[in-house]
Amino acid sequence: MAGLGGDDLGFVPTMGAFHAGHIALMEEARKHHQIACVSLFVNPLQFGPTEDLAKYPRDETRDFALADRAGMDIMFCPTTDEVYPRESTTVHVPVLTDRLEGKTRPGHFDGVATIVAKLFNIVRPKTAYFGWKDLQQCLVIRRMVADLNMNVELSFHETVREPDGLAMSSRNVYLSPEERSLAPLLYKALTDLAEQLRKSSETFNGMIEQATRELTKVGFEIDYLELVSMRDLHPTPTTEDAAIVVAAKLGKTRLIDNFRLNSKP
Ligand code: PAF
Repeated sequence: MAGLGGDDLGFVPTMGAFHAGHIALMEEARKHHQIACVSLFVNPLQFGPTEDLAKYPRDETRDFALADRAGMDIMFCPTTDEVYPRESTTVHVPVLTDRLEGKTRPGHFDGVATIVAKLFNIVRPKTAYFGWKDLQQCLVIRRMVADLNMNVELSFHETVREPDGLAMSSRNVYLSPEERSLAPLLYKALTDLAEQLRKSSETFNGMIEQATRELTKVGFEIDYLELVSMRDLHPTPTTEDAAIVVAAKLGKTRLIDNFRLNSKP
């Protein structure tokens, strides 16, 4: 069955509200493929009942202009009824979804895996592009593609940051000016911890506790701040194939970020 654009299509799945991170992924897709496609679909299945589905930032006109400028041939914007005409079959990726975002946001990754599987089947990309900002999402999608023998290459790209280090995210618009000025401290904590780890891993738990205390003092509500293995996202004592991951609320906004150690592509 044909997809949206022939054999050599590069695909960037998104929920819109484009920022420089999305544009960088679109530019990669543009550079490497005959046809470049971006999808824009705010996927209700990945939002919990108390989350921000209704107020998730939406600006299709602006997004369309940005996608056009980034050289996209196709902007795929299905409606919710088209994507989910009835209660959907879902995809569940085990183990990798048990902790971190999966624990705080039950069902979130079933929603992500389901929509990404559906989009892959509709669009039929050669390669799909994702940002490491959502590290757990990248690992979940990689596992789904392997476990379900999906015929798509995955290409993961570095997090694009504001000049002060804050990871680009569509949700950054929720931050008040004061919160916005504090938000870069999250990445600063990650880079400081990574630097300390390079020197010695022995006192790392103490360093995590201290970073947690300092972030809490300035107003962050830490959900997790951990060194985890990239294989299963469980805590690890070594830096081999590991990442420091963090999620914290600042006011009403939930921020996530990570720092991959000894990172492989
Ligand atoms: O990262 C996102 O924007 C979404 O989770 C994705 C991958 C487009 C699925 O809705």
